[in-house]
Amino acid sequence: MRYFFLAFILSVTVVVSVFGFRGHRFTDPPAEIFNDMDQQAKVKYQAESAFFADGLGARQPVAGTLPVGYEIPEKPLAGEGSRGAIEFSLPGDYYHTGRYGEYYGDGMPEGLTVDAALLKRGQERFAIYCAICHGQSGNGQGTLKQFMPVLIANLHDPQFSDKANAQYRPDGEFFEVISKGRGQMGPYGANINVHDRWAIIAYVRALQESSRKAAPPAPPAAETPAAPGTSPDGAAAPAN
Ligand code: HEC
Repeated sequence: MRYFFLAFILSVTVVVSVFGFRGHRFTDPPAEIFNDMDQQAKVKYQAESAFFADGLGARQPVAGTLPVGYEIPEKPLAGEGSRGAIEFSLPGDYYHTGRYGEYYGDGMPEGLTVDAALLKRGQERFAIYCAICHGQSGNGQGTLKQFMPVLIANLHDPQFSDKANAQYRPDGEFFEVISKGRGQMGPYGANINVHDRWAIIAYVRALQESSRKAAPPAPPAAETPAAPGTSPDGAAAPAN
């Protein structure tokens, strides 16, 4: 029994000397047994640094650096003519959402005309952002296909290109797919500004149009025996 009391008093002393009395304020930094990366050898934002001659921890971006997805507007932001240059997504109108209320809209938003410049921009952006998966022609046979067994949508399939198809995806839905992703496809809303998303859509529509002109419409599905492993209507992706 005597040993119990001795051990008890000893352990109370140890606990109190390590943790202190209740309510006691320590001025020393706490002892960290598992510090969980609390202390890191890095410069915190907006902090001073003795390392650089100017005394600032943060560095200026290299001259000419542009934030991802931005262009330099020809005019300063205020006023006419600047719309779209740096916008990503705002809630509200068709231009920013692809929707009228709950419904997808179709066609280019007001103020955007499909001209050579827009198509050229779309072609360039499509080549940068989409072709790796969907292929330069949009047929779903991009480079990625060689490395991963994924079903990448063929943008010439009727549900994407034929307005008469029951599953037809209008321009507004394309806009949403680019912005937010769908199924296996990730979102590109943070990388492609709103204007460029519409330029890409215009370009995809032009691709569809030119493939329609190049090839006569396919015979009805019933007459073409489906290749093994493909669904009878040739759809690459189920409708979401
Ligand atoms: C990393 C690969 C990848 C990239 C890059 C990519 N996509 Fe996709 N996309 C996919 C895959 C995979 C699907 C099929 C998604 C599914 O149904 O699960 C898809 C589906 C789609 C669909 C059909 C969605 C639907 O309604 O079923 C559209 C439209 C589309 N992509 C457009 C684009 C456009 C435009 C770009 C460029 C901005 C783009 N994609 C970039 C992989 C990609």
